[in-house]
Amino acid sequence: MKGKFITFEGSEGSGKSTQIMLLAQYLKNKRKKVLVLREPGGVMISEKIRDILLDVDNKKMSDVCEMLLYMAARAQLVEEVIAPALTKGMIVLCDRFLDSTLAYQGYGNGIDLEMIKKIGSFATKHITPDLTFVCDMPARKGLSRIRRVKDRIEQRKLAYHNRVRRGYLDIAKKDLKRVKVLQGDNPKEEIHARVISCVERLLKS
Ligand SMILES: Nc1ncnc2c1ncn2[C@@H]1O[C@H](COP(=O)(O)OP(=O)(O)OP(=O)(O)O)[C@@H](O)[C@H]1O
Ligand SMILES: [Mg+2]
Repeated sequence: MKGKFITFEGSEGSGKSTQIMLLAQYLKNKRKKVLVLREPGGVMISEKIRDILLDVDNKKMSDVCEMLLYMAARAQLVEEVIAPALTKGMIVLCDRFLDSTLAYQGYGNGIDLEMIKKIGSFATKHITPDLTFVCDMPARKGLSRIRRVKDRIEQRKLAYHNRVRRGYLDIAKKDLKRVKVLQGDNPKEEIHARVISCVERLLKS
């Protein structure tokens, strides 16, 4: 794969979308070919799966169904967009990826992490990000930043969101080379500067 794959992770309201837009603009100014995607979603079929996943009326959805739907949405996005873009040499920025399933469905809901990794590897054609940023902040503070109506996952209790946060930190600790933790409550521009320095290092490698 000629391109670079960079993902942004972290709990609700932690600043993922803000940082991804700042980085996309930075790279576009440098005349880089950039693609910005979000998960679950990014292509029509995956956006339809997203609607099912986030629908607050789907109270009966089982944990396993939830995990597999995230993987299904991801498989479609990888096949349709991510793999071809990386082959073409593009820089792909993705708002959430497999680490989200480890954090939310694994650490959050208690699904076996090894099982998620196994299915994840299959769903993603073994594509792993070259670099991952985890926007970290206290769950309560992140949630309080969200002004819109909360979706099915966001509505879960604080204890769940705290498990997700600890999960992300654990993922980062186990893979310091790939995963960089950003302090989500620092000023946006400060966080952006750290993002740029990590990305520049990756692009030179
Ligand atoms: N470093 C920051 N300091 C203060 N406010 C911020 C910072 N970064 C983002 N925000 C604000 O916090 C809110 C949530 O940010 P953003 O949408 O980027 O987070 P997110 O992680 O993408 O959230 P979501 O889980 O909803 O996708 C926005 O109103 C944004 O402007
Ligand atoms: Mg966002």
